[in-house]
Amino acid sequence: MKNLIASFLIGSLAQTSWAAPATPVMDVYKSPTCGCCNKWIDHLKANGFTVRSHDTDNVAQHKIRLGVPSGYGSCHTAEIGGYVIEGHVPAKEIKRLLKEPPRARGLVVPAMPVGSPGMEAGGGKDSYKVFLVNQSGSVRTYAQY
Ligand code: CU
Ligand code: CU
Repeated sequence: MKNLIASFLIGSLAQTSWAAPATPVMDVYKSPTCGCCNKWIDHLKANGFTVRSHDTDNVAQHKIRLGVPSGYGSCHTAEIGGYVIEGHVPAKEIKRLLKEPPRARGLVVPAMPVGSPGMEAGGGKDSYKVFLVNQSGSVRTYAQY
C-alpha cells in the first residue's frame, strides 16, 4: 500500500513536470490508405505537435463521437486537449485554439481544399475556411485562407 501511494505520487509529479511546457498529444484517426492524412500529420509534426496516428476503417464513428456536424466532414478526425480537429486544419489555427481556448467542440475544414496543409500536391490553391464548431453544433468562421 505504501509503495502504491509512493509510486502514485512520483508518477503524478513526473507527469506534471514533464507535461507543463509541452502541447498536448494529438490523436489522429484516419483510413490506412489515406495519403493526404499522412501529409497533414507531417505538417503538424513540422510545427511541433506530437501526433499519435490511429488507422481505422471507421473514421465516421469518431466524427459522431466528437460532434463533427454533418456536412462538415473530411478525410481524418483528430482530438487534442478535449477539442475535435476535423480535416486539413492549419497548425497555426490549432495553436491559436489551444492558446485562447474557447467553449467549443473544435475546428473543422470540410472536404479537402487544394492548397490546405497536406493537400499541396499540384500546386493549386482553393480558398477555404476554418470553422469553429460551437458547443451547440453550429459553426462560425474562425479563419479564412
Ligand atoms: Cu485529406
Ligand atoms: Cu486526411
